[in-house]
Amino acid sequence: MCAMRLHVADHPLVAHKLTVLRDERTASPTFRLLVDELVTLLAYEATRDVRTEPTVIQTPVTQTTGTKLADPRPLVVPILRAGLGMLEGMTRLLPTAEVGFLGMQRDEETLEAITYANRLPDDLSGRQCFLLDPMLATGATLVAAIDFLFERGARDVTAVCLLAAPEGLKVLEDAVGDRGDLTVVVASVDERLNENAYIVPGLGDAGDRLYGVV
Ligand code: URA
Repeated sequence: MCAMRLHVADHPLVAHKLTVLRDERTASPTFRLLVDELVTLLAYEATRDVRTEPTVIQTPVTQTTGTKLADPRPLVVPILRAGLGMLEGMTRLLPTAEVGFLGMQRDEETLEAITYANRLPDDLSGRQCFLLDPMLATGATLVAAIDFLFERGARDVTAVCLLAAPEGLKVLEDAVGDRGDLTVVVASVDERLNENAYIVPGLGDAGDRLYGVV
């Protein structure tokens, strides 16, 4: 049975760091650092079901069977621009993962996702994929990104986000249906979207706060 699973990282360090991120007085350098730290904490939860296989090793004392990441290695896909700020935090825990890229922008009038760049392997069958996008707002960007991955054969996708709106989670769940397994790992599910489709209370525009208004 395929379904969407939601995991909200319930930890005092996550709550503390997220509060500093939300604060409008937090400037870009601190914001970037905190996103990095938060994603490392989320990555720990997001990789709970990462595929492994047994491996026999020799310790200084005896031979034993341990665990190693299975092949094919996981694929981490930051959604540009804001997802780039999450890449280091994720690959710190998954250094052998491959990294693909999706450049997506939301059209601020139609709120639809526009794809302007894509660098992904053609065949993702049997591959665990980790999508990085800080703000799950309307869900349009993540739905488009998940469609990209499913079209290439992926069936096991984890979206790592800082914040989600209930509206976006519902859109995502309906869009995925029974096409594959989706896990969403977030630091918080916020109250709602406002009339401009910003998350409330949220943290503003994640890309601008990471990289400035360019
Ligand atoms: N994108 C953002 O960066 N912030 C929001 O609140 C919603 C979408």
